[in-house]
Amino acid sequence: MAKPSSRFVCQECGAVTPRWAGKCESCGGWNTIVEEAAPEAVPKGLSAGKGRRIDFVGLEGSAAPVPRLVTGIAELDRVCGGGLVPGSALLVGGDPGIGKSTLLLQATAALAAKSRVAYISGEEAVDQVRMRAGRLGLSRARVALASATSLRDILASLDGADAPEVVVIDSIQTVYADSIEAAPGTVSQVRACAAELIRLAKRRGFVVFLVGHVTKEGTIAGPRVLEHMVDTTLYFEGDRGHQFRILRAVKNRFGATDEIGVFEMTDRGLAEVANPSALFLAERRGNVAGSCVYAGIEGTRPMLVEIQALVAPSSLSSPRRAVVGWDSGRLSMVLAVLDARCGLALSGNDVYLNVAGGLRITEPAADLAVAAALVSSAGGVPVPADMVVFGEIGLSGEVRAVAQSDQRLKEAAKLGFAQALVPSSPRKSKTAAAAGPLAIRTVGHLQDVAGLFRNG
Ligand code: TYD
Ligand code: MG
Repeated sequence: MAKPSSRFVCQECGAVTPRWAGKCESCGGWNTIVEEAAPEAVPKGLSAGKGRRIDFVGLEGSAAPVPRLVTGIAELDRVCGGGLVPGSALLVGGDPGIGKSTLLLQATAALAAKSRVAYISGEEAVDQVRMRAGRLGLSRARVALASATSLRDILASLDGADAPEVVVIDSIQTVYADSIEAAPGTVSQVRACAAELIRLAKRRGFVVFLVGHVTKEGTIAGPRVLEHMVDTTLYFEGDRGHQFRILRAVKNRFGATDEIGVFEMTDRGLAEVANPSALFLAERRGNVAGSCVYAGIEGTRPMLVEIQALVAPSSLSSPRRAVVGWDSGRLSMVLAVLDARCGLALSGNDVYLNVAGGLRITEPAADLAVAAALVSSAGGVPVPADMVVFGEIGLSGEVRAVAQSDQRLKEAAKLGFAQALVPSSPRKSKTAAAAGPLAIRTVGHLQDVAGLFRNG
């Protein structure tokens, strides 16, 4: 049989098909399949007897753990699990223009004080990066800067006795291997280039940051295939209308996931936000119907955010449901529970829900706060300005206990809140102890909440 000279690869999920199709059978993506040159087949005769025997060792080693490289940017270090592990590969994903290059330039400049660092830009010319560094006040940092896209050149430059300890590749989509025919940015190129860079990083013991752009579907282009190759995947998110930027660890072999770092984009680069709650609540106007403060946990940190709801009569046959910062499926569920279990029908209304400040909340613990904001907006009765709310809602309308309630309450007390609306959990005594000066109000069923912020 003739060897096929090309194959068709889905750029979203990496699935390979023998012929082109408009829809990928594997991930369901449309128009994602691109023709690529077939890679060399596995050499024949790969069998036992030809390899070198590997030495097995025990789990317990005698070598002292290598110290982590600390950037000094506390928000970044925490997300990485307490600094960078030598020899590890980190993928930094995010929308174009969100601030990935800025963050990594600041991180390399900070690291340059103690380590040898290299910043390789495939997207911007040297002068452009210099201009940015100038604007950030980092021109004097001892960062080795280059503009390059050829994998061969990059590998040759990093493989030496004077190899840097930290390398940034901005971005992996611009790097190409001349041995592969596919265009830069395709799955085969991205995968092959990343694999080579990671292999060199492990061998030489340097940290490699791979910057990856995210496609509009929200995956790093080419790159679900990259996520399993790297040790740590960080997403840099936020919307451009807001100055807040969230760095989120979605995978980390050397630390906790779901940890977040909060930054603010200023005219002099990214500034760390040590107390995000205060910032997220800074523009809040008290005693407005439809606004409610949710006491959440992001990673290891409690974080208070304002949830805003607007319920308005609709003239449309199928009223609008618009959600920013929360899951729209979850909103539908809360609306359905309010309708079916509490008799609050909002099906004839447009419903808008917004998490103020551009944060995206994933915890189910926000259910109760969302419900309170919705009920409050529908009834026109404000949730008290000094009240925080958290709790998960079940389909029968029951309010369920959530984890780490004491941490949430402590944060609320710290920021001067006076009351908390929480699930009536069996661990009430503990909750009371953590609450300190907070007046705790417990609810067992959503009905109770509907009663609280409703007219008449
Ligand atoms: P950039 O780091 O280039 O984004 P990415 O690498 O993720 O594509 O960030 C670009 C945006 O950041 C750009 O819109 C301008 C803004 N910015 C500032 O607001 N202040 C600054 O000091 C810098 C360097 C950029
Ligand atoms: Mg960039």
